[in-house]
Amino acid sequence: MSRRDSALLAEPPRPAQTPTIPAYLSETYTWAYLSKLGCAVFDRQPVVTAILWGNARRLIRSVTAELRPGWRVLQPACVYGTFSADVAATLGAAGHLDVSDIAPIQVSLTRRKLSDVPQASVELWDAAESGRGPYDAVTCFFLLHEVPEDYKGRIVDALLGSVRRGGKVVFVDYHRPSALHPLRPVMAGVFAALEPFATTLWAHEIRSYASESEGFAWRKETFFGGMYQKVVAERL
Ligand SMILES: C[S@@+](CC[C@H](N)C(=O)[O-])C[C@H]1O[C@@H](n2cnc3c(N)ncnc32)[C@H](O)[C@@H]1O
Repeated sequence: MSRRDSALLAEPPRPAQTPTIPAYLSETYTWAYLSKLGCAVFDRQPVVTAILWGNARRLIRSVTAELRPGWRVLQPACVYGTFSADVAATLGAAGHLDVSDIAPIQVSLTRRKLSDVPQASVELWDAAESGRGPYDAVTCFFLLHEVPEDYKGRIVDALLGSVRRGGKVVFVDYHRPSALHPLRPVMAGVFAALEPFATTLWAHEIRSYASESEGFAWRKETFFGGMYQKVVAERL
């Protein structure tokens, strides 16, 4: 089978309806994700590195370490910087990366960024909608802290439902820093001012958002004094 044939076979299903931008996104994050200025300012790896206090490379590596060449992988929301290109490079020419996002401006931006990566495609899709896959893996990078609680549950359920038996969902996101972490008050201030849905990840395990967590082997690792977490759910 030619690469083009397998890419066509790997094409994700189209959503039944074009997703509309949810209120939580337009009311809270227009400056970051829905404006041209936001895209121009934030879509640079040094900016991503600064926002993650120098941990971007380490966190991206913690995701790619979970993947294997040739796998078919879903990335349910766009990520600024090199994340998607790094994941696609790990999958190699025999693999495929489906990136999706609910915002048309992010879809266009990411299509441009990945235009020379033949094993990647980018579609408009709401991460909370089920019906995709089965994938070998899903990489959910800093999406959950940006959505309200009901959406967190819907997204976790939809992503768990889109991996094959033996496949895994890799979540990387914020986590409660240790009590003496010098940046803890800074992050509490950032969340209070800009990221109102993030602090619940300091109180709840990502696993607790799944309506059926049995049937998966869960593991968790934290980074940078507990400020970040990687949670992997592997379908048994
Ligand atoms: C992955 S998150 C944050 C990533 C990280 N802060 C970065 O460096 O880019 C940002 C993306 O999530 C998208 N998003 C928010 N809610 C979504 C949903 N329900 N479905 C798909 N994408 C969504 C936004 O449009 C935005 O492009």
